[in-house]
Amino acid sequence: MSPHAENITEIVAGLTRPQKSISSKYFYDERGSQLFDAITQLPEYYLTGTEIGIMRNNIAEIVELVGKQASLIEFGSGSSLKTRILLEHLDELAAYVPVDISEEHLLASAQRIGSEFPDTEVLPVVADFTRKFDLPTPRVMPLRNIVYFPGSTIGNFEHSVALDLLRVMRHEARENGALLIGVDLQKDAAIIDNAYNDSQGISAEFNLNILRHLNQVYAADFDLDEFSHDAQYDAAEGRVVIHLVSARDQVVHIGETRIDIAHGEKILTEYSHKYTLQGFAEMAGQADFRVEKVWADAEDLFSVQYLLAI
Ligand code: SAH
Ligand code: AVI
Repeated sequence: MSPHAENITEIVAGLTRPQKSISSKYFYDERGSQLFDAITQLPEYYLTGTEIGIMRNNIAEIVELVGKQASLIEFGSGSSLKTRILLEHLDELAAYVPVDISEEHLLASAQRIGSEFPDTEVLPVVADFTRKFDLPTPRVMPLRNIVYFPGSTIGNFEHSVALDLLRVMRHEARENGALLIGVDLQKDAAIIDNAYNDSQGISAEFNLNILRHLNQVYAADFDLDEFSHDAQYDAAEGRVVIHLVSARDQVVHIGETRIDIAHGEKILTEYSHKYTLQGFAEMAGQADFRVEKVWADAEDLFSVQYLLAI
């Protein structure tokens, strides 16, 4: 089956279950990537600014741990914003391999990075990292592989999928490699709720963009005006649950498939899990990683963690 056909099967399956859902990876067409970048600039969205602060404050130690002539493989690289901090300080990198599903955005970002860091080989890979994909071989033989997964994108996956993903990263880290990962932490519910319900409505636009993407690429006919954004932190589960809520009884189509949606019915579009340090370390251990170092901000909002392959 082609990737496009596989996607349609997956989308229809998600929308025909009793609890309708659309995978959060469908947020990311070019517009979705731009809206995500706008989210990172919002005052309420503490994640990006906090993670950048942690990276800057600890860059000497991070560079020391990464070592020389590593291949830096980034999952869900987006605009490679935080990666610039690493690239500015890692002067002997074998290669930078950004992996992302959002093709145009990835290729444009990779080209910019390539011209800003002409001494580093940049090898972009357009792929869905939840499916099987291949990584290219750099020109310079790396001494080790460092997988980079910032942004707490790991939080967008339910436990079993997050664990599978860590195992894929563990495989890519090889024998003496490591994973440098951004992990958002459990905290006061109001701070989290605000981050996903900003006053400018960008989070809502980002959420609705998933329907626009399905209309444009998968022959769907969602009316975006008939859905509203809903995001709430479930403290007991330690995760934000994000839905689109139907404003009326309506019928939509994905190609030939008819989907009935009731007034008030919710389509699940994303989870954003928040971890405790202990909870995350347990999951990392199940994927044969050992947490070697955790850096956090003064308020323990967010963490950057260095996990060694064991
Ligand atoms: N790393 C950046 C961007 C995070 S946004 C940061 O920290 O700011 C999440 C990124 O992961 C997006 O660029 C999105 O396109 C990508 N992504 C989400 N699901 C993906 C998947 N299944 N396969 C590949 N990339 C994915
Ligand atoms: C990419 N990911 C870590 C974001 C998050 O915070 O879970 C996606 C996002 N969804 C709504 N706002 C941001």
